Amino acid sequence: MLLDPSDTAARPLRSVAEERQFVAAHTTRAPVPLVPEISVRVASEVTPLWHATEAWLSQRGIEPPFWAFPWAGGQVLARYVLDTPNLVRGLRVLDFACGGGLVGMAACLAGAAHVSAIDTDSLALTAATMNAEDAGLTLETPSRESDDHDYVGHDLTQRFDVLLAGDVFYDAHAAARFVPWFRELAGGGLRVLVGDPGRTYAPHEGVTVRFEADVPVPEGLEGKTTLRARVLEVHSAR
Ligand SMILES: C[S@@+](CC[C@H](N)C(=O)[O-])C[C@H]1O[C@@H](n2cnc3c(N)ncnc32)[C@H](O)[C@@H]1O
Repeated sequence: MLLDPSDTAARPLRSVAEERQFVAAHTTRAPVPLVPEISVRVASEVTPLWHATEAWLSQRGIEPPFWAFPWAGGQVLARYVLDTPNLVRGLRVLDFACGGGLVGMAACLAGAAHVSAIDTDSLALTAATMNAEDAGLTLETPSRESDDHDYVGHDLTQRFDVLLAGDVFYDAHAAARFVPWFRELAGGGLRVLVGDPGRTYAPHEGVTVRFEADVPVPEGLEGKTTLRARVLEVHSAR
């Protein structure tokens, strides 16, 4: 298989074609547990793909494969969007930190006018594009040549009406950047909704809980078979 830690000859993935081949080789398409009307490519072998050492992955230019699982925060947010289509219908939506693109796909199905997806991991953008194509949906992603796939700090209020983010509060450094930026965007009129299963760095103040559900998750990743997850609307600091 492609992801064999004993394969010392492996080299970084360089082209979209190689990334597509990698995603196809390591995933199987399956319905998302809380959102069975959407299927995404999921790591067919959780253990080798996830537990390959970071050094082994980085040697090959591969980030940990966050894109290969629909995370609990993404699942709860996608469920909420599908069940509350007026949130996005006819609007311009950004799936921020899209991973495999589940949330953006839900926005497409709910009738958004236009859905973009962004992630700093180019494999995630490739996986999200493939997942959307499989479902006959369109997620706009930035060009591979564009050097800035980190939108944090950008004023997106003229480009989008709604920012959706699934499961982004698992890292202290990242959350410390995301939360004030989300509040800035909310202050500028953009609606910001985040799906979160109680990750350590999620904000507790200046948010409103819009929805919650028990989400089935892979025990090998989360240490549990379900997580209680919530959709938080993030408000302006002002
Ligand atoms: C836990 S995954 C969630 C993926 C997806 N939203 C879901 O719920 O299944 C977190 C994602 O955040 C992405 N990410 C981290 N920092 C980012 C940034 N500054 N801008 C965009 N994406 C980022 C990672 O590459 C990863 O795909």
